Amino acid sequence: MIRRTMIELAASVVVIMAAPGCKKSGDGAASENKAVSAETGKAGSGDTAKAGSGSDMAKAGSGGAGGETAKPAGVSLEVTHWWTSGGESAAVKELAKAFDATGNKWVDGAIPGSGDQARPIMVARITGGDPMGATQFNHGRQAEDLVKAGVMRDLTDLATKEHWKELIRPSSLLDSCTVDGKIYCAPVNIHSQQWLWISNKAFTDAKVAIPTNWDEFVKAAPALEKAGKIPLAQGRQSWQETLTFQVLLVALAGPEAYLKVYKDKDKAFAAGPEITKVFNAADQARKLSAKSTVQDWNQATAMVIKGDAGGQIMGDWAQGEFQVAGQKAGTDYTCLPGLGVHEVMQTAGDAFYFPKLKDEAKSRAQETLASVMLSKETQVAFNLKKGSVPVRGDVDVNTANDCMKKGLAILAKGPGAIIQATDQLMTPDSATQVNDLFAEFFAKPEMTVKAAQKRFADLIAAAK
Ligand code: GAL
Repeated sequence: MIRRTMIELAASVVVIMAAPGCKKSGDGAASENKAVSAETGKAGSGDTAKAGSGSDMAKAGSGGAGGETAKPAGVSLEVTHWWTSGGESAAVKELAKAFDATGNKWVDGAIPGSGDQARPIMVARITGGDPMGATQFNHGRQAEDLVKAGVMRDLTDLATKEHWKELIRPSSLLDSCTVDGKIYCAPVNIHSQQWLWISNKAFTDAKVAIPTNWDEFVKAAPALEKAGKIPLAQGRQSWQETLTFQVLLVALAGPEAYLKVYKDKDKAFAAGPEITKVFNAADQARKLSAKSTVQDWNQATAMVIKGDAGGQIMGDWAQGEFQVAGQKAGTDYTCLPGLGVHEVMQTAGDAFYFPKLKDEAKSRAQETLASVMLSKETQVAFNLKKGSVPVRGDVDVNTANDCMKKGLAILAKGPGAIIQATDQLMTPDSATQVNDLFAEFFAKPEMTVKAAQKRFADLIAAAK
């Protein structure tokens, strides 16, 4: 397996910069990072921006994690992310609103096409000397190379002053932000991928009982098809097809099996009978979703919302779509954590990183933004719309819907019911290679379970 860093990956996609949604930051940061070359990602002589001094933060302002934030003169800060679906847009507006309330200005840098499209663009801008003020990455190792290239802000002082270590749980979230003992990001939510979302309408139309687990779901498929439904809605982007496989693995083989594969990178186990069962279930999933031709995950969720499809395996960001459609958990749709088999929560989700900027006022505003993102108010307002769980355990989420409450209850069970995300367990490059395999598996019915599992075991053995 050829090892490519995120920076090298980005260099090969600079062309995409022309894509709609990418705008020149114009925040005067370009000059600072000119020293950082897209190829090597190595920092040159460019001096780094000095962060706002801690004491400013402590003095005045509204609700940061530590309760106080400085209110510098209004500064515009461009924030890039890949939140473009209805639910995602509603949620990100809560972050923008909270930041604007500090007297600064959130300049939205939404990049369409999901994380796999957006991340190379973000990396290319940062390494190409055109950094934004803040940018989304998933919990894990996606920004590792940028941090090691010295182009990202160290937030340790702010994190210490605002007690992030005490506030944020589970601690693996902040661990994912930490490189060589320093903290480089603000985690904003916990998203679990371990869910099956079911259309109550589709099952009622097909006159079959709403399933309580994967087996019952598969058994109901012929009746759904007879009623003109697509049993399983599946978006045709490789990360979504990998997600379907990975959720089936945790649900059917168990969390220990998942860790043997993704954490221990155990080739023999990945090639073994336990995982063959999972590939057989993935084979069922590709048959049940054969008529699902949409690309984006939220288009697949829309099929469930409309009752055209029986269900979708997707992360709990899908909840944002049900909310925007005005649908009620338990009434219009049903959610099965762990496909109703192994109920675990996964610590996937999002964190914001802050490229180094020379502009003092913007650097202070970066701290204000990080602080506001972790304030109690923002955590509740954002996560309730996003369908994710707050990273703070001391916030009141009693207005959460039934599915979020199920997630919170599983999280409250502690370490035995929580698994790390694949992005926390392998490099982006290894994840991309696994995605390529599942894109092929779902696109080619002639690809046998045996052939796919062999390649999978090889990839896992070589994964970093
Ligand atoms: C994930 C992200 C989520 C969600 C999803 C679909 O990577 O963590 O917040 O929005 O992508 O876009």
